[in-house]
Amino acid sequence: MRFDVVTLFPECFGAVAVSKIWQNAIDSKKLSLHLHQLRNFSTNKHKTVDDTPYGGGAGMLLQIEPLVAAIESIPRLEKSQVWLMSPQGHVWEQDRAVSAHADLQQIILVCGRYEGVDERFIEGWVDQCISIGNYVLSGGELAAMVVMESVSRVVPGVVGDAMSVSEDSIQSGGLKYPQFTRPREFRGMMVPEVLLQGDHQKIAKWREKQAHFRTLQNRPDLLKEQNILPTEVKGKTK
Ligand code: ADE
Repeated sequence: MRFDVVTLFPECFGAVAVSKIWQNAIDSKKLSLHLHQLRNFSTNKHKTVDDTPYGGGAGMLLQIEPLVAAIESIPRLEKSQVWLMSPQGHVWEQDRAVSAHADLQQIILVCGRYEGVDERFIEGWVDQCISIGNYVLSGGELAAMVVMESVSRVVPGVVGDAMSVSEDSIQSGGLKYPQFTRPREFRGMMVPEVLLQGDHQKIAKWREKQAHFRTLQNRPDLLKEQNILPTEVKGKTK
């Protein structure tokens, strides 16, 4: 998967590049990341890329010329889309990460800033507007990183252990069961006995029940999506 990011703050994406998972995936050519400084496509000597909205109103908008020039400078693979990060978009979910990996070779992520972008850019050049949740950020950089991170995890081989992806919360259709590591006892808090006995069938059953219980408590909407009735979830077992 090739990611291109159009942004005024390319340095933010160092946060992704420092991750070992990303470094390995880039080295083994499973992922590539290309950053494009929007300011380099400014049409004026002051290198500005924003202007006031026609008709008045608060704030500044990203102008269409630098945005289009940036998009048109990017080499395109056959299966490629342009996604604008915006609170106006469809809310990002795990199943979209899975279908993005299945359907696309390249995602061009455009990070909005200020009060938004000239609508003609969305009409002519954007395939999807993506929101990462019902809140407003100052720009799309964090949203682009969230999207890149979740798509990258479903690319085979990016995360070392495929089981850990298929057992991820949400990916598996619900939340994950509670997990414990050494020590067995910490300030009187014990690891559940069932996990210490080595009976894998019993452990699997316990985990399934715990995962359902946690999903019911924290994300009952996920159970509804799978048509599971809350009464099928019996409760917490020790
Ligand atoms: N830019 C500002 N807020 C955003 C959000 N919630 N999702 C995606 N991009 C954004």
